[in-house]
Order: sequence, then C-alpha cells, then structure tokens
Amino acid sequence: MSAIIMDGSATAAQWRADLAIQAAQLASTLGRPPALQTMLVGSDPASEVYIGMKIRACTDVGIRSVHVQLPDTATESEVLEAIAVAAADSDIDGILVQFPLPAGVSERAVIDAIPPEKDVDCFHPFNVGLMASGGAGHLLPCTPAGIIRLLEAYDVPIAGRHAVVVGRSNLVGRPVASMLLDRHATVTIAHSRTPDLGAITRQADILVVAVGRAHLITPDMVAPGAVVIDVGVNRTAEGLVGDVDFAGVSPIASMITPVPGGVGPMTVATLMANTIAAAQVRAM
Ligand code: GUN
Repeated sequence: MSAIIMDGSATAAQWRADLAIQAAQLASTLGRPPALQTMLVGSDPASEVYIGMKIRACTDVGIRSVHVQLPDTATESEVLEAIAVAAADSDIDGILVQFPLPAGVSERAVIDAIPPEKDVDCFHPFNVGLMASGGAGHLLPCTPAGIIRLLEAYDVPIAGRHAVVVGRSNLVGRPVASMLLDRHATVTIAHSRTPDLGAITRQADILVVAVGRAHLITPDMVAPGAVVIDVGVNRTAEGLVGDVDFAGVSPIASMITPVPGGVGPMTVATLMANTIAAAQVRAM
C-alpha cells in the first residue's frame, strides 16, 4: 500500500475560492479591496520566486498587492523607513518583509517595526506570545497554520496522537509544535543535536519535518502508518526536493505531503487568510 498524497495545491485552491468571497465582501464594506504590502530587500532568487507566488495569490483572491523592492545595498534605516510608510498607510492591511535579509539588516529590528495588527507573518513578539500562550489572535503563523489546515482537510486526528516535530525554527518548528499542543497532541521537538533521531521519529503518529536537509528522513526512521508532513524545500541536482525521502517513505506512511505541491501552497493561502483577517479587524 502506498500513502495518500496530501494535495496542498488542491486544498489551497479550494480555500482560496472561499477567501475570494470574503475579500469581495470586505471590498464592499471597506470601499477598497484588502491590501498586502510585500517587501523584498536584495535579489535572492528563491525569495523572488516566493514573493512572485504571494503576489499571484493576491491577484487570484482579490487582494490588492503593493510590492516594494529595495536593493541589497539598502541600509537598515532605509528598510525601516519603508516599513514605517506602509505602517502609516491606512489603505494597507498587511505587511510582509521576505526573509532572509541581507547582512547588516537585522531581522529583529524589521519584525519589531511591523505593527502587530499588520503582521501577517505572525512574527511580532506580541502575536507570537498570543499564539504560544494558547490564546491565538486572528493572525496565525503561515506555515504552521497551513499544516494544521491540511491535516484537518484530510481528517487526520491530532488529539492524543504523538506528533514529532523535527526542527526548532521560529518560522516553523516552534510555532507548529505549539499549535499541535493546543490541539492536544503529545509533542516532541527534535533538532540537529538530537542523538539517534530515528529512535524519536519512529514514535511519531504525525511527523513534521522542517530542517532544510534533503533526504534527512529515510524509510527506517518512519513508523508504518505515520502521517508525514515535509516542510523542506531543497534545491538539488535532482530538482526541488523536501527533507523526506519521498519515494522511500511513501510505501510506509499512511499519508505524505509532496514537495512541491504540499505545504507551500497552504502557507501562501494562510497569508491570504491573514491579510483578510487583518482587513476585517480594520473594518469593524
Ligand atoms: N522566508 C521563508 N519563508 C518565509 C515566510 O513565511 N515569511 C517571510 N517573511 N519570509 C520567509
């Protein structure tokens, strides 16, 4: 038996259709469409691809997108000034500054400069704190919330299951662990310094892998019937691959996300949902 492939592209497309209805309703309430300001500093090729996807999703859903491109020579104060302009603009609902940033521009300073109510990445300590204390506000971290939505779309039970998260980044590992905990999973977080990683991952009913190392998870590290969520995006000689040996693990898992077409589209759809949620608060 081979695993069910969890189709993030199709699930996200259905979600975007619902979001498009909400965006249109909001446009008539606000007298303008919800709006997302994206910002890219420098010309990292992967970041350009991600920003392109986010801008296309805005068009698809009926969100106005405003893009600001700064050169990789931009200073931190120039970046902060551009954020301040968007922060003060009452026609902008959400602000997203694509990471990574060039050396010399502090992620911390950028995150702190985005007003929490426009923080559609859910990176600001105020929103992270709300989420981590189980009192999630209306803005949720995009990749973790996209993963939860995908699990729900495939009716994967979470309560009482053992979820193993490999990776402890602020972007994915920590917040997804927190969201799984909120849904009553027993959660283990493993990382690069975990000895005998396989002994931990083999305990997982739900295995979430967000490390950024191609083929980190081999078939011997996965229990039969596990649900495997692969967050990795690695550019290799064989093309784009995740952190999981997809061909090897698929016959063992009960469900598995592909790369591409798994978690990525769900992340982008959550960003659209967050932008609409930010605009909804402004419409109240
Ligand atoms: N770089 C990689 N993923 C993300 C993300 O979700 N948001 C931002 N702002 N930058 C990223």
